[in-house]
Amino acid sequence: MIHTTPYDAMFSTVIGKEYEMLQLICPIAPIMSHLVGTTVGAIPDRMAPLQVVELGGGTGITTLALLSGKSNLHILSVDNEPTMQNQAKQHLKKWVDAGQLSFSGEDALSALQGLADNSMDVIASAYTLHNFLNSYRAQVLKEIFRVLKPNGQFVNGDRYALNDIRQHTRLTQEEVGQYFKVLTEINRTDLLEQWIVHLFNDESEDHVMREGVAMHQMQEAGFIRIKISDRKGVNALVTASKP
Ligand SMILES: C[S@@+](CC[C@H](N)C(=O)[O-])C[C@H]1O[C@@H](n2cnc3c(N)ncnc32)[C@H](O)[C@@H]1O
Repeated sequence: MIHTTPYDAMFSTVIGKEYEMLQLICPIAPIMSHLVGTTVGAIPDRMAPLQVVELGGGTGITTLALLSGKSNLHILSVDNEPTMQNQAKQHLKKWVDAGQLSFSGEDALSALQGLADNSMDVIASAYTLHNFLNSYRAQVLKEIFRVLKPNGQFVNGDRYALNDIRQHTRLTQEEVGQYFKVLTEINRTDLLEQWIVHLFNDESEDHVMREGVAMHQMQEAGFIRIKISDRKGVNALVTASKP
């Protein structure tokens, strides 16, 4: 039973401690991180290392994809959940020692607010923005825009809810079926409970990141070349540029 888990801090629970199990119930998740890495990797090299901020680095899966996609970059990886970020610090020590990776334990909005205007080449993320409250997400998008250099890019692989609500519900129901199939087979009803609770959070009206609304929020923030691609079920890659 869940007694004390704060509504928005579920990555401190068994989900955070055993985050790699997500790959079993959502095999698309590491693929999306890989896509974020290759998209950033395709940005032409410059003389100076590409300055990247990663929002919601978690245990380091997306961070590793970014580090593997390009060698000439520096990443500031932001995550306000120590259960997750401490795993990334362990896994990715090699890149910290090489001076390519540093960490911030602040929440995404505060970390962005601490950065100068026009200072970053890329803001990258995977499976983080959909966890935000809609109002917080709108503020984060405005800050991303402010912090990016002209021509800077926002790259996000995430849950983007379909505009077609019935189709989205059907895909979410299939997703729940997969959670049950995989986690009951290995007798992990504790994880099953937590992921179902988490899914209710993701799908709640004040959190759900619906594609059309998200595109509109980005337009409002000033982004251009907003593109959604690689849709796989409820997941998609979004890229956008600052003029
Ligand atoms: C689902 S995980 C994604 C981790 C990684 N990008 C991946 O795809 O495996 C989401 C991460 O976002 C972090 N997170 C959620 N809300 C945040 C916020 N407001 N500021 C910073 N990090 C946040 C969580 O702690 C968690 O580690």
